[in-house]
Amino acid sequence: MMGHVCDLLLKFVAELGGEAAVAKVVARAGVEPKAYRFERFYPEEEFRALLSAAMEVLGVTATQAEHAFAEYFMRVSPKLFPAIFTLSGDARTLLERIPHLHRSIPPAAGDAFHEKLVVAATGPDWMEYAYDSPHRLCGFLIHSSRLVLGHYGETGEVAERECARRGAARCLVRIRFDRPRNRVSGV
Ligand code: HEM
Repeated sequence: MMGHVCDLLLKFVAELGGEAAVAKVVARAGVEPKAYRFERFYPEEEFRALLSAAMEVLGVTATQAEHAFAEYFMRVSPKLFPAIFTLSGDARTLLERIPHLHRSIPPAAGDAFHEKLVVAATGPDWMEYAYDSPHRLCGFLIHSSRLVLGHYGETGEVAERECARRGAARCLVRIRFDRPRNRVSGV
């Protein structure tokens, strides 16, 4: 997992429980305390261990953790990357760009990117993500997608059609947009 997400996870823990909670999470996860580098890839098991430890230390379930982390993620991401959110202009454009954005972050030398999220299908007023990850964070994906709609003041529906947790090969998350794409501004 790229360091950006590990770093955000620990910042999220710090916001809720302070540096003491971060120290507990790192110790419980059994990982070396470190400053996670944005573009560096860390073992997926390390992220998994941090996430499990964070759930234990914060005393939350997986679903609660995914929702709360999505809220944090969508609160800080537009501030960290204002150009991406502003230039996208609407929820669909942003959401369709996300897999490309993930792919285009240049990894640190020697690291390899493993794609977990792709746009699998699109229709006139919908798009569908295929999400295949050992972390099975489809709750995070669904909630973040809803928050992206909210970020642009839009409405729509986000529904999971298939879920890896229920035995599917990967999760399929469909997002329907009430507002048509390429709308005329102000209309
Ligand atoms: C500017 C905004 C964003 C940035 C910079 C960003 C960056 C990243 C990075 C660096 C990763 C780690 C990739 C990896 O190592 O596998 C990641 C993972 C991911 N991101 Fe984003 N992301 C952004 C927005 C979003 C949004 C809006 C969504 C949801 C709609 C999203 C969904 C995901 C998912 C599902 C993963 C994979 C988690 C996993 O490992 O299972 N991202 N993102």
